[in-house]
Amino acid sequence: MGRSLKYEIPGTDWRRSTLELADLGFEGLFGPEFNSPQERVLEIGFGRGEFLLELAAKNPESAFLGVEVSFKRVLKMARKVGRSGLSNIRVMEARGEVVLGDLIPADCLDAIWVNFSDPWPKDRHAGRRFIRPEVVADVAGSLVRGGLVQVATDDVPYAHQISEVLAGESRLRNVHEPLPWLADVPGRIPTGYEIEWREAGRPLHFFTYERIAAQGGGELK
Ligand SMILES: C[S@@+](CC[C@H](N)C(=O)[O-])C[C@H]1O[C@@H](n2cnc3c(N)ncnc32)[C@H](O)[C@@H]1O
Repeated sequence: MGRSLKYEIPGTDWRRSTLELADLGFEGLFGPEFNSPQERVLEIGFGRGEFLLELAAKNPESAFLGVEVSFKRVLKMARKVGRSGLSNIRVMEARGEVVLGDLIPADCLDAIWVNFSDPWPKDRHAGRRFIRPEVVADVAGSLVRGGLVQVATDDVPYAHQISEVLAGESRLRNVHEPLPWLADVPGRIPTGYEIEWREAGRPLHFFTYERIAAQGGGELK
């Protein structure tokens, strides 16, 4: 039998629901203290949450929403955020696709992080990978002009797919051009999986794309 979960949250419980996001909007999740945050940041699939905690601690004036599909990971992260005393993180149990597609308004976010999303290595599962054209269209539409989407993977076939899909979205520009990605980003906060994959000697791929105006002016999300 697995270890039992601890449900009580030390400190403030900063979990929020998709309904609250739909009702209150991004800023509404944070309250008056963050009426106009320096940056609005979304992390999809925060896993054990080390990256989000460190990024939020380094940027106390910015507002961070972490979205995770796993109930257990959301609960554990809520406990970590509560213990940290940070008031600029909200955590949400949801699929990133739904949050980006249905709940975040157009031109809202300054940054979106997708770190080491599941690579689904079997060919028949490749359609489940997070970075796919319809999701990237919502990523582009959710970013403000000049906003960044940052994607990382250790999986070589997935890296090629990510490269193709990001480059295929006309509202995004590759910041690392002419390179498709970087193998290392000095000073980057490492995620839990990143540390493991680096120790295992796996190749890493870091993508940064910037939201630009659409060619031809059409601006649908
Ligand atoms: C391989 S782990 C990477 C965790 C963390 N980003 C890191 O780099 O250490 C992928 C995480 O994404 C979550 N996940 C998978 N599909 C998701 C989705 N559609 N929306 C949100 N989270 C998702 C999983 O539950 C898991 O925690």
